[in-house]
Amino acid sequence: MTRLRDLLREGRLPTLEARMLLQEVLQVSRSWLVAHDDEPMSAELLEAYRALEARRLAGEPMAYILGRREFMGHDFFVSPAVLIPRPETELLVDKAVSLVAGRDGASVLDLGTGSGAIAVSIALACPQASVVATDYSFEALDVARRNAAALGAKVDFHPGSWYEALPEGKVFDLIVSNPPYIPVGDPHLTQGDLRFEPEMALSDGQDGLDAYRQIIAGARARLKPGGSLYVEHGMGQDAAVRELLENAGFREVHSLPDLAGILRVSGGHF
Ligand SMILES: C[S@@+](CC[C@H](N)C(=O)[O-])C[C@H]1O[C@@H](n2cnc3c(N)ncnc32)[C@H](O)[C@@H]1O
Repeated sequence: MTRLRDLLREGRLPTLEARMLLQEVLQVSRSWLVAHDDEPMSAELLEAYRALEARRLAGEPMAYILGRREFMGHDFFVSPAVLIPRPETELLVDKAVSLVAGRDGASVLDLGTGSGAIAVSIALACPQASVVATDYSFEALDVARRNAAALGAKVDFHPGSWYEALPEGKVFDLIVSNPPYIPVGDPHLTQGDLRFEPEMALSDGQDGLDAYRQIIAGARARLKPGGSLYVEHGMGQDAAVRELLENAGFREVHSLPDLAGILRVSGGHF
């Protein structure tokens, strides 16, 4: 007979992951599991647990196995059609919220929204703002729409490549984006969680800066006077992104560090 605690202790997975998979299979809370860890597993539930365990042992990210990831305190549905939202992206959301909070009718554009993590979080934190989000991937937009509906966020979604997705003449107070920025051929693309995430969400297929070139070059036509653009980028890309912003005529160009001290977000104002 296999008891719950036997599975938690057998060491095939880190205890935290084994516990999360058990909670998923049993549909119970963490505290229930702690209080009932001497209960036996039925053969059926054990089989269900082993199936999830096998996926994890094959390297599949926990977020895809569980179908969700927490971001900005909200539970986002995720599927292999979208990038798994990263904690460091909360820096971009915090910056956006600091610029928009309390400004009635402020308009925000999130380019390449994926799961909708950025756009939905801004819309929830700033309900007076009007938030538009785009993505090239229809599958990603389906996930983003599902998240907006489940979390009660009002976001207007448009499919298409960067600004081409938008109605002609539509302009914004703030544009944000966390575009694909891993250079083609980077060995990280074939390692860890990244092996399971959509390539289009990770790499621009070029030197890692192509999306910034397009987003920054097109921003002037899509920003209101005094509007701002902030983008997330990879470690070590900050100087190149600031140069693109400065060459495009942005003022007060600067970069912001994440909690690890890495310059992660750069932006400026028109
Ligand atoms: C790094 S992911 C970011 C997803 C989400 N914003 C986040 O931060 O979790 C980049 C997103 O950009 C989208 N994307 C890639 N190329 C695009 C393009 N040309 N136009 C619009 N979106 C694009 C991808 O489909 C993907 O959802």
